[in-house]
Amino acid sequence: MRHNMYPVAAACLLAAASTALASAEDSSTTTTASPDENGKYWIHGEGISAAFIAYGASITDLVVEDQYGIPRDVVAGFDNASYYAIDRQHPHFGGVPGRYANRIKNSSFEIDGETYHIKANENPTPEHPDGLDTLHGGPDGWDWRNFTVVSYTNSSITFSIVDPDGKEGFPGEVVSYITYTLGKMTWDFKMVAIATTKKTPIMLSSHTYWNLDGFTNNETQSVLNHTFYLPYSGQRVGVDNILIPTGDILANKRGSANDFWSAPKQIGHSFGDPELEGNCGFNCTGYDNCWLVNREPNGPFTDWRNEKNFVARLQSAWSGIQLDIYSDQEAFQMYSCNGQNGSMALKASQGLHDGKFPRTIPKYGCVVMEVEDWIDAINQPQWQRGSKQVFEPGGDPYVLQASYRFSINSTKASF
Ligand SMILES: *[C@@H]1O[C@H](CO)[C@@H](O)[C@H](O)[C@H]1NC(C)=O
Ligand SMILES: *[C@@H]1O[C@H](CO)[C@@H](O)[C@H](O)[C@H]1NC(C)=O
Ligand SMILES: *[C@@H]1O[C@H](CO)[C@@H](O)[C@H](O)[C@H]1NC(C)=O
Ligand SMILES: *[C@@H]1O[C@H](CO)[C@@H](O)[C@H](O)[C@H]1NC(C)=O
Ligand SMILES: *[C@@H]1O[C@H](CO)[C@@H](O)[C@H](O)[C@H]1NC(C)=O
Ligand SMILES: *[C@@H]1O[C@H](CO)[C@@H](O)[C@H](O)[C@H]1NC(C)=O
Ligand SMILES: *[C@@H]1O[C@H](CO)[C@@H](O)[C@H](O)[C@H]1NC(C)=O
Ligand SMILES: *[C@@H]1O[C@H](CO)[C@@H](O)[C@H](O)[C@H]1NC(C)=O
Ligand SMILES: *[C@@H]1O[C@H](CO)[C@@H](O)[C@H](O)[C@H]1NC(C)=O
Repeated sequence: MRHNMYPVAAACLLAAASTALASAEDSSTTTTASPDENGKYWIHGEGISAAFIAYGASITDLVVEDQYGIPRDVVAGFDNASYYAIDRQHPHFGGVPGRYANRIKNSSFEIDGETYHIKANENPTPEHPDGLDTLHGGPDGWDWRNFTVVSYTNSSITFSIVDPDGKEGFPGEVVSYITYTLGKMTWDFKMVAIATTKKTPIMLSSHTYWNLDGFTNNETQSVLNHTFYLPYSGQRVGVDNILIPTGDILANKRGSANDFWSAPKQIGHSFGDPELEGNCGFNCTGYDNCWLVNREPNGPFTDWRNEKNFVARLQSAWSGIQLDIYSDQEAFQMYSCNGQNGSMALKASQGLHDGKFPRTIPKYGCVVMEVEDWIDAINQPQWQRGSKQVFEPGGDPYVLQASYRFSINSTKASF
């Protein structure tokens, strides 16, 4: 089955990669290089290739070889850049949510005694037709806008955005640079943002959807058999039934549904446990949670890339692809695609082409993993995270660094 599928998918992936290579060769230095015919900017590392688009500074494709040497495109996205602006579901596929990722309670926050009201875009009610809260920076957040490509080489791409004062209701202008780099089976990114005119909250992330089988697993399209591990995350942010933080920090007791710290565990392992019902909001079974990353006790830290100090691991025994995530961020969101319902098409480079499964993303067909700071900390002053969340002209810049490292490991988690 897999071998019948392979020539189609592989030919597709290799064609895309070589087209991109040709365009990178045309101008080996910077900004004049152009995207491929699908509007995608391809970059290359050793054993890894990835494509990006200006829309949301999004990753659209990431190709690594599985344990049999077969290239797999392991991130969800669309076939071409133009479709990102057309699609109305807008799942934030691979983009950079900004200027403030995740949810902002009541679409408001206070800085130095002044209350700011920003645009709402989630959980509409008759009294609040736009919504009760703001998700990922508002209805025209960063991942709805086209960034500018400021540098493009064979192995890296840098995007920039200037977010004007007052946009979506946020105070002050923010200028940001997003750099993605591929190395030896690694995808690294650095995100920097500067408040140029007023104090403002900033929290960024990469909102990438993963399926480490590239949806080609011939037994299941879901990620419930992927192994997930968060070794330093014994705590999580408590949320209400629309996923707004309550201010409480909860314990992920050993063996409980949200325990991914005591041992690597399959994402589907706790399905059936009553704790998982409502775990991702009203009438929702699965994960959409923010775990804290308590790395300090494992320190001291001179370099956040220290081998001992990774944040998360995702692994599929079927493809044998393992992804280890290192980051300087102190929280980690994992979403198990509870909201997917088979209405998003797979890319041509993904999935089986033999009719065994629909060529769409099913519920629990993917997992989003976001390195970030503690969500909605701007509305929880007792967490004392002001210096990590609010930035001002002349002060420190906002900085996020992460390293996503791929390897082959076909060991099955024991549970
Ligand atoms: C499914 O994939 C596995 C692993 O690649 C392979 O060994 C097996 O033969 C495949 N099964 C079918 C029914 O194609
Ligand atoms: C781009 O990078 C890949 C992988 O490192 C390499 O094989 C290729 O030769 C490079 N191409 C150019 C034009 O430098
Ligand atoms: C772009 O991609 C979308 C989604 O995959 C597809 O429906 C559309 O036909 C594509 N358009 C072009 C011009 O290739
Ligand atoms: C962003 O660029 C794409 C082309 O890649 C274009 O189709 C789209 O209309 C642009 N969107 C905005 C909001 O400018
Ligand atoms: C929520 O925001 C509205 C204005 O948008 C304000 O009138 C109201 O007091 C706020 N509610 C709470 C609980 O902060
Ligand atoms: C997923 O893992 C469970 C054990 O945790 C096993 O019973 C099930 O067969 C696996 N499913 C697939 C499709 O691999
Ligand atoms: C709860 O979710 C299920 C399936 O996800 C749906 O069929 C049902 O209508 C929902 N119930 C309520 C009360 O929203
Ligand atoms: C699937 O989800 C999308 C986005 O939430 C929604 O627009 C669509 O109506 C849903 N389709 C089905 C069949 O439930
Ligand atoms: C391979 O995966 C197993 C099961 O998740 C894990 O225990 C082991 O540490 C992994 N090996 C490496 C080198 O990461």
